[in-house]
Formats: sequence, structure tokens, C-alpha cells
Amino acid sequence: MVERWSPTSWRSKPIQQVPVYPDAAVLAAAEGQLAGFPPLVFAGEARKLKRALGKVAAGESFLLQGGDCAESFAEHSADNIRDFFRVFLQMAVVLTFAGGSPVVKVGRIAGQFAKPRSSGTEVQDGVELPSYRGDIINDNAFTPESRTPDPRRMLEAYRQSAATLNLLRAFATGGYANLENVHRWTLGFVKDAPGSGRYRELADRISETLDFMRAIGIDPETHPEMRTTDMFTSHEALLLGYEQAMTRVDSTSGDWYATSGHMLWIGDRTRQADHAHVEYFRGVKNPIGLKCGPSLTPDGLLSLIDVLNPENEAGRLTLICRFGADKIGDHLPALIRAVQREGRTVVWSCDPMHGNTITSANRYKTRPYDKVVSELKSFFAIHEAEGTYAGGVHLEMTGKDVTECTGGARAITEMDLSDRYHTFCDPRLNAEQALEVAFMLADLVKRERQAKPRVHVAAAE
Ligand code: PEP
Ligand code: CO
Repeated sequence: MVERWSPTSWRSKPIQQVPVYPDAAVLAAAEGQLAGFPPLVFAGEARKLKRALGKVAAGESFLLQGGDCAESFAEHSADNIRDFFRVFLQMAVVLTFAGGSPVVKVGRIAGQFAKPRSSGTEVQDGVELPSYRGDIINDNAFTPESRTPDPRRMLEAYRQSAATLNLLRAFATGGYANLENVHRWTLGFVKDAPGSGRYRELADRISETLDFMRAIGIDPETHPEMRTTDMFTSHEALLLGYEQAMTRVDSTSGDWYATSGHMLWIGDRTRQADHAHVEYFRGVKNPIGLKCGPSLTPDGLLSLIDVLNPENEAGRLTLICRFGADKIGDHLPALIRAVQREGRTVVWSCDPMHGNTITSANRYKTRPYDKVVSELKSFFAIHEAEGTYAGGVHLEMTGKDVTECTGGARAITEMDLSDRYHTFCDPRLNAEQALEVAFMLADLVKRERQAKPRVHVAAAE
């Protein structure tokens, strides 16, 4: 007998990673206020993304998901959002044109504020304070006031998410994403980067193709799909009080939807089958992601799939694998075989960031570019060997010229990390490194698409 679900049923389950708020009344007031605010996204949009991900599961499309590890209140400028969107568009166009595959674009943006931590407290010079858990919960400065969880931050996170989403929608549909702008998306500092010639050549080819199409009467004025794009949002739904307040019934279908973002995912630390996060996720109809790390067993994965996608809907569940370049070979094949054996339809995506984090000799948290590439290559090779699709990628990246991950075409060294190390949490690929990954992926995707016939999976509504 399946227990009844409601937006509050997670509250009776064990929960990990929960902040301790000093005043329950202030918390309840903030949650109550949020519950009265308009939804950020609509059920119809979430269904559209689910259909698009159904195509990814069938090998007809590729999922590009990426953005900051953590968004911050301090860095909420139009330039930041625009620069991220530009690199993301460039990556998508590389994958579409050079990889020969349609791309589903999902940002880690407009809601990616809550962070799981390995310890509830942090000690500096003998002083112990609560850990920083992301701007939606507390502030990073190491003082008792800053580190005390403050529920009003949820309202600020909502405001920032709404403003970010508003700009993304404008960029996606207001002309900025017009394919005729393919040259203009290149960011100033990327123009003279070692790999930028490759993008220029590709953009030239696209421009020529567009000229040809215009000559035969097909142009962006008459074909809106050439001047607009779909950009979806996603985040780790870690702070369940916030998510509950943003959970609404869709009047068309009568189903519950999370309206804080189009796609939500469950983190690697909070995926216990009988705990609060899995309970919340099972009841909302959005497309969802599940982070799969080295501690996940094949049987553990199958029980989670039973709970999270009991109807085996294509596009409902994306498995975001994050084992590390040296461990993926020990874990992924067994998970794929279990899922195949049971006939479960999933999107397989690779997060080559979270299993490859190291501390540099000069004490920076970093990720070597080569490890990122190595995990991605192994991911594709394993899927090829198993006869399944490497469906997508999940990246921590920014449109800024930061120095947070070592390596890449400009060969950032550990000594360079201190130059522009700006992340609020994990190290991100900078714009150049992200574009370089896109070209590398385009080759892999192209090979995969040429090697395999498409499988047919009933598209989910
Ligand atoms: C993240 O995506 O930022 C994250 C914390 O990942 P994971 O849950 O896979 O560790
Ligand atoms: Co991260």
C-alpha cells in the first residue's frame, strides 16, 4: 500500500541537511508569505521539458545542464546572467551544429541557492559556527550573526529567482537568441582565446547556411524557431520548506507541481529512499534528477526508481552520475545493466565535476580540466559498450573569466588559481573551458549518433 502523499508529508520523515532556524514563528511567517506568491514556472512548461527529456532518453536529443555551483545575492547583475546565457547558447549551437543533435538547455539557475555540507559546523581559529549553507539560508561571513539561518532569505531568493527568470525569458524569446547573432555571442575575453578560431569557423558556417536559407525564403521573421529558444531552469531542491511553499496544484491536470523551477534534483547526500527529500519528490510531476555517486548500489537505484518513477514515464527521471574519473568504470556499468534488465526508461547524464574535486597545494578547492574530460570520455565509452545512450552533461560553469579549475587550452596552473577565484562554493569551468568541453562533447555525440540507431520510447505527456 503506497502511503498518501501531500506537499507536507515529507515532514514526518527523517531528514538530512536541515538548517536550524532560531525562531519557528518567523520561519512559518516567511513560508506562509511565499505560499501566497505567484508560481515562478508553470506546469505546462515543466511538461514540455519532460517531453523534451523523453526524446533525450530515446537518443534523439542531448541534455545540456549547467550553471553556478551556488548562485549568490551579491552577484545578481544583468551582465552575469547575460554572460552565462551567451556561453550556454554557444555550447548549445556547437552541440547542435557540430554534434548533429538537438539540445535541451537547462540552467542551474534562478533558484540554485541551497547547499549540502559535509559538516553542520565549521571551526576557524578555535571558534565553531554553523556552516554556510547557501544564500537562501545564511551568509558566508564567519560571524555568529551571518551564519545564523534567517528565513527572510527565502523571500530574497524568490525575488532574485523571479528577476533572473524574467531576464532569461527575455533573452530566449526577445531576439537575443536569434541564430543570426551567432557571432555576437562570443564574449570579449574569449575572442582571442586559444580555441576561439574553432567557434568562429563554426559560426561562419552557420551564417552561410542562414544566408542560403534566406535566399530560398526561410528566415527568422517567418520561422520563430530560428529567433527564439527554450531555456529551462533547475536547482537542487534541498530546502524543503521553501519547496513546499512553492508547490501548487495545476488547474489543468489536478496534479501537484513544484513551481520553483522546471526541473529539480535530489543531491547525492539526501537520496535515502525512506527520507524526506525522496518523499517530497515522489509527489510532484516535474521532470526530476537524481545524483548518483559511488555509494549507490544497483539495488538501491532500482528501489529509488520504483518510488520516483513508478509509471516508467520517459523524461521523468534523469540519473546524474558523478563518480569521478577514476571510479566511473567501477560503478556505472552495473547501474546501467540493472536499469536495462528491469526495462526502466531514464536519461543518463554525466556530472564530471563533483567526483573530481581536489585541494591544490596552495589550498584552493579545484578540479583538473583533464579529469573532467576523462570522466566524460569514459561515460560515453561505457554507454557505447552497454548499448545505451550517453544522454547529457551536467556542469558547474560560468560565463566569467575565472580561474577556478586548472588546465584547459590556457593551461591554468595551481599558482594561477588565486588570480580570479570567485566561486561561492565549488570551482566552475570558465567560459573558455566550458566551450572547449562543448567541442569535445560534440565529437562524442556525433560518433554516438552515427553508431547507433534510435530506440523508440513512448513520449511522456
Ligand atoms: C551540486 O550539484 O552542487 C552538489 C552538491 O552535488 P552532489 O549532490 O552530487 O554532491
Ligand atoms: Co557543486
